[in-house]
Amino acid sequence: MITTKNIRKSFGSTQALKGISFEIQKGEIVGFLGRNGAGKTTLMRILTSYLPATSGHVTIDGKDIARDSLSARRKIGYLPETPPLYPAMTVKDYVTFAARLKDVPAKNIRKQVEKVLDECYLRNVADKTIAVLSKGYQQRAGIAQAIINDPAILILDEPTNGLDPVQIRRMRSLIQNLERERTVIISTHILSEIEQIARRVLIIKEGMIVADDAIGNLLRDEHGAACSLEDVFLRINA
Ligand SMILES: Nc1ncnc2c1ncn2[C@@H]1O[C@H](COP(=O)(O)OP(=O)(O)O)[C@@H](O)[C@H]1O
Ligand SMILES: [Mg+2]
Repeated sequence: MITTKNIRKSFGSTQALKGISFEIQKGEIVGFLGRNGAGKTTLMRILTSYLPATSGHVTIDGKDIARDSLSARRKIGYLPETPPLYPAMTVKDYVTFAARLKDVPAKNIRKQVEKVLDECYLRNVADKTIAVLSKGYQQRAGIAQAIINDPAILILDEPTNGLDPVQIRRMRSLIQNLERERTVIISTHILSEIEQIARRVLIIKEGMIVADDAIGNLLRDEHGAACSLEDVFLRINA
């Protein structure tokens, strides 16, 4: 469903991505794991076609996103590192606005907004302005705009960043509900989160993929003994 071939990205003299290649099949839940600055956000921005790669190709359903970025964006729900929120809007108006932007057919908008407000546990704050909400609610409003047109692919950049433990748990159960039949890519540097949500992990280090495997396979050391993701991560980033 998503294929990248040798993606490179430079910002001036900084090589943020140094040749990233992978394939993600429909329905896979993949975690991008890496230290701050590893290149996760840059890679996500390229996958969502918000940023052009310096070289290399991304295809979605066999189509090069550089040639048809609009149709690629329609297939993807994206929660950027900083969600595109409008603080003065109410939650409901914001989600309705996102539905219009994403060309949800007018006759479906009301129903779709109601559904997404429920799915994202936003019902009780629907008429509050975004500015007064806690970070957990704001982050879920960001997810609501990402899923409003029911995209087949969901790309979430550190969705639990800055949330407290209760908010993290709520976010996790929200993401687990959204997984059904969707392809999900989620970035984080919180290891326990990846273990609970993703089935496959790509570990990114200094712009390169240094591990790409099913979680179950990663959690074995070279002698086949069980180890934690923290062990794997620390070994790779030592
Ligand atoms: N717009 C930009 N201009 C210059 N350098 C950037 C820009 N975006 C990212 N970088 C650099 O690219 C590298 C990867 O950053 P990023 O993708 O944000 O990593 P991560 O999301 O894994 O923390 C870092 O060295 C960062 O400083
Ligand atoms: Mg980032």
